[in-house]
Amino acid sequence: MSLAETFHALYLEKGEAGPKVRIGEVPASVLPDGEVLIRVAYSTINYKDAMMVKGIGYRIKDFPFVPGIDLAGTVEQSSCPDFKPGDQVVLNGYGAGEKFAGGYGAYARAKGEWLVAVPEGWTARDTMAVGTAGVTAMLAAMEFERGGLTPGGGDILVTGASGGLGSMSIAMLSALGYRVVAATGRMGEKAYLEQLGAAEIIPRSELEGGPDKPLMARRWAGCVDAVGGKTLATVIASLDQRGVIAACGLTGGNTFTASLIPFFLRGVRLVGIEGGHGPIDERREAWARIARTLSRDRLDAMTTDAVLDDLPSLADEMLAGRVRGRVVIDVNP
Ligand SMILES: NC(=O)c1ccc[n+]([C@@H]2O[C@H](COP(=O)([O-])OP(=O)(O)OC[C@H]3O[C@@H](n4cnc5c(N)ncnc54)[C@H](OP(=O)(O)O)[C@@H]3O)[C@@H](O)[C@H]2O)c1
Repeated sequence: MSLAETFHALYLEKGEAGPKVRIGEVPASVLPDGEVLIRVAYSTINYKDAMMVKGIGYRIKDFPFVPGIDLAGTVEQSSCPDFKPGDQVVLNGYGAGEKFAGGYGAYARAKGEWLVAVPEGWTARDTMAVGTAGVTAMLAAMEFERGGLTPGGGDILVTGASGGLGSMSIAMLSALGYRVVAATGRMGEKAYLEQLGAAEIIPRSELEGGPDKPLMARRWAGCVDAVGGKTLATVIASLDQRGVIAACGLTGGNTFTASLIPFFLRGVRLVGIEGGHGPIDERREAWARIARTLSRDRLDAMTTDAVLDDLPSLADEMLAGRVRGRVVIDVNP
């Protein structure tokens, strides 16, 4: 099959009260410029995708618009020397599904400099089980290493543990040898979180009230935070000396108020993780490390499958905090 005048996609159409979700044919002209044309096989749903599908927080200029920040498939045409027809590639972010047509369609076009080859022994579906959530989790682990954290050097907290970023962080950090403590609002997922490698599970209510003093008991060497808000402020106050927080998400609030005292008296470090952008060499390194670190068992344990038709209800479920782990989307009818 090659690109015709239209292709199958989930797309957003302009509506009176915000974008409306449609599934059907979109004109090939929605694709951006780029050296590589990709026949998309799979995408996934991230929190950002859920917001986009529900028309929350994004200003879309051109309709119809194809969301989906992640995609994987086969190169169909390429004028980039790094990729040739038949290669299996992954695209995470760089504006896909936010600024230009993304992964929820049968075709995508991208600059070669944004693409990563599907790791040896992996499939396009595997890479979408990882998605931006997994890349972000590995980038956070790499920040811990840069910050001097080592396995055995204290507990790592993962907030939003049952979600995509949380599940990926638990699986990879525990595989790297860290003792991981999972904070969740779903204590019923204890067995799942332990299967991924969590050594201890705590209720998220312990963290979400905010700190009761600037310096609380030293509890964490590091934290991958998917929640933000008061949870982040609590973590800052309870980090150990020279602890590192990888600030990744905002499911509990996109602002926070915290004392500066832990920064000055404990040298804590708050690092933002840009899972959707950043230098491609760093992201290719992250992918190589994911392929070496993440076991098939754990990847399978956190992955479910769905199709484009499922996305509107999945987006509702995700924004309500009810999706567990990662969901791979088969974009073909
Ligand atoms: N920095 C980046 O580049 C990057 C990359 C990926 C994701 N993110 C961000 O990270 C966050 C998580 O993304 P995701 O894809 O993992 O989403 P997800 O699969 O929906 O997971 C989010 C998790 O957060 C927890 N949660 C949900 N609502 C909450 C609330 N009101 N208060 C406290 N906890 C809540 C839930 O975990 P429990 O049920 O276990 O408590 C939920 O499973 C999002 O904000 C997303 O935008 C950022």
